[in-house]
Amino acid sequence: MRQKNLRIIDNISDLKKEIEKLQGSIGLVPTMGALHLGHQSLIEKSVQQNDNTVVSIFVNPIQFGINEDLDKYPRKLEKDCELCKQQGVDIVFAPRIEEMYKSDKNNITLICPPVNAVDKLCGKSRPGHFDGVCTVVAKLFNLTKANKAYFGQKDAQQLFIIQKMVKDLDFNIEIVPCPIVREQDGLALSSRNQYLSKNDRILALNIQKALKTAISLAKKGINDKRTILDSCLEILSDLDVDYIEFVDKNTFETVDLIDKNTLLLIAAKTPQTKTRLIDNSLLH
Ligand code: PAJ
Repeated sequence: MRQKNLRIIDNISDLKKEIEKLQGSIGLVPTMGALHLGHQSLIEKSVQQNDNTVVSIFVNPIQFGINEDLDKYPRKLEKDCELCKQQGVDIVFAPRIEEMYKSDKNNITLICPPVNAVDKLCGKSRPGHFDGVCTVVAKLFNLTKANKAYFGQKDAQQLFIIQKMVKDLDFNIEIVPCPIVREQDGLALSSRNQYLSKNDRILALNIQKALKTAISLAKKGINDKRTILDSCLEILSDLDVDYIEFVDKNTFETVDLIDKNTLLLIAAKTPQTKTRLIDNSLLH
C-alpha cells in the first residue's frame, strides 16, 4: 500500500486550506470512526480511484435520537488515523462538535429527505436520523469539494437517501456504492458489534441466516412475501425485530411480490446488550 503524508485536521479553516492545495481528484469517505474492514474497503476503493482521499471521522450528534448510543459510541481516533495512514489516506478530518455546528446544534439549517423516503425502515424507527445524516454529509461534500464519495450498501436506506439528495439538489459529486463486508461467519461488520456479549454475538448470526433462507426460498421461485416473512421471523425469534421489510431496490417502495429487484432489509436488537444491528440482501 502506498503510504503518504497523512494530515490530521480538526478544524474547518485548516481543512479548506489543505483542500485548496490538493491536485487532481478527491475521494471522500464519511465515517463515524472505530474503523473496521467495512470502512477500510471504502477507503481502499477511494485510494484506488482518486489522486487524493479524505476520510472524515465524526460521531454526528444530530443523527442520534435522545435514547440512542451517542455517549457510548466507540471513539478510537489514534488507531483510526494509523489505519488511514497505512491505507494511503491524505487527510483525516476529525472535527469537534462545536467546530461542525458552530452556533448551536439545535439551531441549524437541516436537509430533510421527503416523508416517503423516511417513513419506513430506519427512518421510521429513528425519527430525524436521516435529517442529521443528510445535513452532515452535505456539509462534508461542500467542505471537501470531493469528486466522489463512498458509501456502504450495509446502510442501504442511507445510501438510497444520499443518492436522492445528490440528484434532487444537484450536488456535483458521484456516489460510489460499496458492497457489504462480513465476518467469516457472515455477520456484517459494524462499529456496534463490539457491544455484543458472547450470547448476543451467536444470536446475531440469525440475521444473516434469515437473509440466506429468504434468498434460497426466492431462488426456488417462491414470490409470496408472507411465506418468506414467516420463515424469517421464526429464525429471528430470539431477537427483538425492529423491522423486516421487502422493498424495490430502485425506489425503496414496499413490495408484496418478490422479484429480482427485491431488497430484504432487517433491523433487530439483541436480547442482552440491546445492540441494534442492521443487514440486507437482494433476493436473487
Ligand atoms: P458509519 O456507520 O461509520 O459508516 C461509514 C460508512 O461505512 C457508511 O457508508 C457505511 O455504510 C459503511 N459501512 C459500515 N459497515 C460496513 C460494512 N460492513 N460493509 C460495507 N460498508 C460498511 O454511516 C455512517 O457512519 C454515518 O451515518 C455517516 C454517513 C458517516 C454520516 O454521519
